[in-house]
Amino acid sequence: MTDEQGLVVVAIDGPAGSGKSTVAQRLAAASGLEYLDTGAMYRAVTFVALAKGIDPEDEESLAQIATNMTLSMEPGGAIVVDGVDATTQIRGPEVSRAVSAVASVAEVRTELVSRQREWARRRGGGVLEGRDIGSVVFPEAKLKVYLTASPEVRASRRAREVTDLDYDTVASDLARRDALDSNRTNDPLVRADGAQVLDTSDLSVDEVVDELLTLLNSDSSNEQR
Ligand code: DC
Repeated sequence: MTDEQGLVVVAIDGPAGSGKSTVAQRLAAASGLEYLDTGAMYRAVTFVALAKGIDPEDEESLAQIATNMTLSMEPGGAIVVDGVDATTQIRGPEVSRAVSAVASVAEVRTELVSRQREWARRRGGGVLEGRDIGSVVFPEAKLKVYLTASPEVRASRRAREVTDLDYDTVASDLARRDALDSNRTNDPLVRADGAQVLDTSDLSVDEVVDELLTLLNSDSSNEQR
Protein backbone atom coordinates (compact mmCIF):
# COMPACT_ATOMS: atom_id res chain seq x y z
CA MET A 1 0.00 0.00 0.00
CA THR A 2 1.29 3.46 -0.81
CA ASP A 3 -0.25 6.79 0.13
CA GLU A 4 -2.23 8.92 -2.30
CA GLN A 5 0.99 10.34 -3.77
CA GLY A 6 2.38 6.87 -4.44
CA LEU A 7 5.02 7.16 -1.71
CA VAL A 8 6.19 4.36 0.54
CA VAL A 9 6.75 6.12 3.86
CA VAL A 10 7.56 4.60 7.22
CA ALA A 11 6.98 7.14 10.01
CA ILE A 12 8.80 6.49 13.28
CA ASP A 13 8.08 8.79 16.20
CA GLY A 14 8.86 8.69 19.88
CA PRO A 15 10.72 10.44 22.68
CA ALA A 16 14.52 10.77 22.92
CA GLY A 17 16.22 7.48 23.75
CA SER A 18 13.31 5.30 22.59
CA GLY A 19 15.57 3.70 19.97
CA LYS A 20 14.22 5.58 16.94
CA SER A 21 17.50 6.34 15.18
CA THR A 22 19.03 2.89 15.49
CA VAL A 23 15.80 1.16 14.55
CA ALA A 24 14.97 3.54 11.68
CA GLN A 25 18.45 3.15 10.13
CA ARG A 26 18.33 -0.62 10.40
CA LEU A 27 14.81 -0.78 9.02
CA ALA A 28 15.80 1.46 6.10
CA ALA A 29 18.79 -0.75 5.27
CA ALA A 30 16.69 -3.91 5.49
CA SER A 31 13.83 -2.56 3.38
CA GLY A 32 15.84 -0.70 0.73
CA LEU A 33 14.37 2.68 1.67
CA GLU A 34 16.40 5.78 2.47
CA TYR A 35 16.56 7.18 5.99
CA LEU A 36 15.93 10.72 7.25
CA ASP A 37 16.71 11.91 10.78
CA THR A 38 14.38 14.91 11.05
CA GLY A 39 15.66 15.78 14.55
CA ALA A 40 19.02 16.55 12.92
CA MET A 41 17.26 19.25 10.87
CA TYR A 42 15.96 21.00 14.02
CA ARG A 43 19.43 20.59 15.49
CA ALA A 44 20.98 22.16 12.37
CA VAL A 45 18.80 25.29 12.74
CA THR A 46 19.79 25.45 16.43
CA PHE A 47 23.47 25.08 15.55
CA VAL A 48 23.36 28.00 13.13
CA ALA A 49 21.40 30.14 15.61
CA LEU A 50 23.93 29.49 18.40
CA ALA A 51 26.87 30.12 16.03
CA LYS A 52 25.34 33.47 15.05
CA GLY A 53 24.55 34.37 18.67
CA ILE A 54 20.81 34.49 17.95
CA ASP A 55 18.49 34.33 20.95
CA PRO A 56 16.48 31.04 20.89
CA GLU A 57 13.41 33.22 21.60
CA ASP A 58 13.93 35.33 18.47
CA GLU A 59 11.37 33.50 16.32
CA GLU A 60 11.75 35.68 13.24
CA SER A 61 15.50 35.12 13.00
CA LEU A 62 15.06 31.39 13.61
CA ALA A 63 12.50 31.18 10.81
CA GLN A 64 14.91 32.98 8.49
CA ILE A 65 17.67 30.51 9.31
CA ALA A 66 15.36 27.54 8.62
CA THR A 67 14.33 29.03 5.28
CA ASN A 68 17.75 30.11 4.08
CA MET A 69 20.13 27.43 5.37
CA THR A 70 21.74 25.04 2.93
CA LEU A 71 21.54 21.65 4.54
CA SER A 72 23.22 18.54 3.28
CA MET A 73 22.59 15.27 5.08
CA GLU A 74 24.89 12.66 3.68
CA PRO A 75 24.06 8.93 3.71
CA GLY A 76 27.03 8.24 6.02
CA GLY A 77 25.48 10.56 8.64
CA ALA A 78 27.54 13.73 8.00
CA ILE A 79 25.54 16.95 8.44
CA VAL A 80 26.83 19.99 6.56
CA VAL A 81 25.06 23.29 7.24
CA ASP A 82 25.89 26.36 5.16
CA GLY A 83 29.11 24.63 4.13
CA VAL A 84 30.21 23.83 7.72
CA ASP A 85 30.50 20.23 8.91
CA ALA A 86 28.34 20.27 12.06
CA THR A 87 28.07 16.49 12.50
CA THR A 88 29.61 16.53 15.98
CA GLN A 89 28.33 19.85 17.29
CA ILE A 90 24.67 19.20 16.52
CA ARG A 91 24.80 16.33 19.06
CA GLY A 92 26.63 18.41 21.69
CA PRO A 93 25.11 19.63 24.98
CA GLU A 94 24.61 23.26 23.85
CA VAL A 95 22.51 22.30 20.85
CA SER A 96 20.71 19.56 22.82
CA ARG A 97 19.63 22.08 25.48
CA ALA A 98 18.40 24.73 23.04
CA VAL A 99 16.81 22.56 20.35
CA SER A 100 13.39 22.08 21.98
CA ALA A 101 12.85 25.84 22.08
CA VAL A 102 13.77 26.14 18.41
CA ALA A 103 11.55 23.18 17.49
CA SER A 104 8.57 24.88 19.15
CA VAL A 105 8.60 27.80 16.66
CA ALA A 106 5.75 27.37 14.16
CA GLU A 107 7.54 28.96 11.19
CA VAL A 108 10.60 26.79 11.72
CA ARG A 109 8.37 23.70 11.73
CA THR A 110 6.50 24.75 8.58
CA GLU A 111 9.74 25.14 6.67
CA LEU A 112 11.32 21.91 7.90
CA VAL A 113 8.13 19.88 7.35
CA SER A 114 8.05 21.11 3.77
CA ARG A 115 11.70 20.09 3.28
CA GLN A 116 10.93 16.66 4.75
CA ARG A 117 7.99 16.11 2.40
CA GLU A 118 10.12 17.19 -0.55
CA TRP A 119 12.92 14.84 0.54
CA ALA A 120 10.50 11.87 0.54
CA ARG A 121 8.82 12.88 -2.75
CA ARG A 122 12.16 12.89 -4.55
CA ARG A 123 12.89 9.35 -3.34
CA GLY A 124 9.47 7.76 -3.65
CA GLY A 125 9.29 7.58 0.14
CA GLY A 126 11.67 6.65 2.94
CA VAL A 127 11.99 5.89 6.62
CA LEU A 128 11.57 9.18 8.49
CA GLU A 129 12.06 9.49 12.23
CA GLY A 130 11.06 12.35 14.49
CA ARG A 131 8.22 13.52 16.72
CA ASP A 132 5.44 14.47 14.30
CA ILE A 133 6.05 12.30 11.23
CA GLY A 134 2.94 10.13 11.60
CA SER A 135 0.76 12.94 12.95
CA VAL A 136 1.73 15.88 10.70
CA VAL A 137 4.37 15.22 8.04
CA PHE A 138 2.94 11.97 6.60
CA PRO A 139 -0.37 11.06 8.29
CA GLU A 140 -1.01 8.68 5.37
CA ALA A 141 2.29 6.81 5.83
CA LYS A 142 2.28 3.15 4.91
CA LEU A 143 3.50 2.23 8.39
CA LYS A 144 3.32 4.46 11.46
CA VAL A 145 5.24 3.49 14.56
CA TYR A 146 5.43 5.05 18.00
CA LEU A 147 8.47 3.78 19.89
CA THR A 148 8.74 4.29 23.60
CA ALA A 149 10.72 2.98 26.60
CA SER A 150 10.82 3.70 30.32
CA PRO A 151 12.51 7.00 31.31
CA GLU A 152 15.30 5.05 33.07
CA VAL A 153 16.08 2.91 30.03
CA ARG A 154 16.02 5.95 27.74
CA ALA A 155 18.35 7.92 30.03
CA SER A 156 20.79 4.99 30.28
CA ARG A 157 20.88 4.65 26.50
CA ARG A 158 21.61 8.35 26.06
CA ALA A 159 24.21 8.34 28.88
CA ARG A 160 26.06 5.56 27.04
CA GLU A 161 26.10 7.64 23.84
CA VAL A 162 27.57 10.77 25.46
CA THR A 163 30.85 10.35 27.30
CA ASP A 164 31.13 13.79 28.90
CA LEU A 165 27.89 13.86 30.97
CA ASP A 166 26.87 11.70 33.93
CA TYR A 167 23.64 9.72 34.14
CA ASP A 168 21.81 12.23 36.40
CA THR A 169 22.55 15.17 34.09
CA VAL A 170 21.44 13.17 31.05
CA ALA A 171 18.27 12.00 32.85
CA SER A 172 17.25 15.50 33.89
CA ASP A 173 18.00 16.99 30.43
CA LEU A 174 15.91 14.22 28.90
CA ALA A 175 12.98 14.79 31.27
CA ARG A 176 13.07 18.50 30.51
CA ARG A 177 13.13 17.87 26.77
CA ASP A 178 10.31 15.29 27.00
CA ALA A 179 8.13 17.84 28.78
CA LEU A 180 8.89 20.58 26.23
CA ASP A 181 8.38 18.30 23.20
CA SER A 182 5.13 16.83 24.53
CA ASN A 183 3.53 20.00 25.87
CA ARG A 184 4.34 22.53 23.15
CA THR A 185 1.44 24.04 21.21
CA ASN A 186 2.84 23.41 17.72
CA ASP A 187 2.83 19.75 16.63
CA PRO A 188 3.72 18.19 19.98
CA LEU A 189 4.97 14.63 20.31
CA VAL A 190 1.85 12.44 20.19
CA ARG A 191 0.95 8.87 19.35
CA ALA A 192 -0.42 9.38 15.84
CA ASP A 193 -3.78 7.83 14.99
CA GLY A 194 -3.18 4.35 13.68
CA ALA A 195 0.41 4.15 14.93
CA GLN A 196 1.75 0.81 16.16
CA VAL A 197 3.01 1.40 19.69
CA LEU A 198 6.12 -0.56 20.70
CA ASP A 199 7.76 -0.36 24.13
CA THR A 200 11.43 -1.13 23.47
CA SER A 201 12.54 -1.23 27.15
CA ASP A 202 13.02 -5.00 27.16
CA LEU A 203 13.52 -5.62 23.44
CA SER A 204 16.76 -5.91 21.49
CA VAL A 205 17.25 -3.83 18.34
CA ASP A 206 16.92 -7.01 16.26
CA GLU A 207 13.59 -7.84 17.87
CA VAL A 208 12.19 -4.37 17.18
CA VAL A 209 13.43 -4.32 13.57
CA ASP A 210 12.06 -7.82 12.91
CA GLU A 211 8.68 -6.80 14.29
CA LEU A 212 8.58 -3.70 12.09
CA LEU A 213 9.67 -5.60 8.98
CA THR A 214 6.85 -8.06 9.58
CA LEU A 215 4.37 -5.19 9.91
CA LEU A 216 5.72 -3.50 6.77
CA ASN A 217 5.54 -6.68 4.71
CA SER A 218 2.14 -7.75 5.99
CA ASP A 219 0.83 -4.34 5.01
CA SER A 220 2.09 -4.85 1.42
CA SER A 221 0.54 -8.30 1.21
CA ASN A 222 -2.81 -6.82 2.30
CA GLU A 223 -2.71 -4.54 -0.70
CA GLN A 224 -2.00 -7.33 -3.15
CA ARG A 225 -5.12 -9.23 -2.17
O1 DC B 1 15.44 13.25 17.81
P1 DC B 1 16.32 14.39 18.35
O2 DC B 1 16.60 14.26 19.82
O3 DC B 1 17.57 14.57 17.56
O4 DC B 1 15.43 15.71 18.15
C1 DC B 1 15.92 16.97 18.50
C2 DC B 1 14.77 17.87 18.89
O5 DC B 1 14.00 18.22 17.75
C3 DC B 1 13.82 17.30 19.93
O6 DC B 1 13.84 18.11 21.09
C4 DC B 1 12.46 17.37 19.30
C5 DC B 1 12.63 18.10 18.01
N1 DC B 1 11.99 17.41 16.89
C6 DC B 1 10.74 17.81 16.52
O7 DC B 1 10.16 18.66 17.18
N2 DC B 1 10.14 17.25 15.43
C7 DC B 1 10.75 16.30 14.73
N3 DC B 1 10.14 15.77 13.67
C8 DC B 1 12.05 15.86 15.10
C9 DC B 1 12.64 16.43 16.20
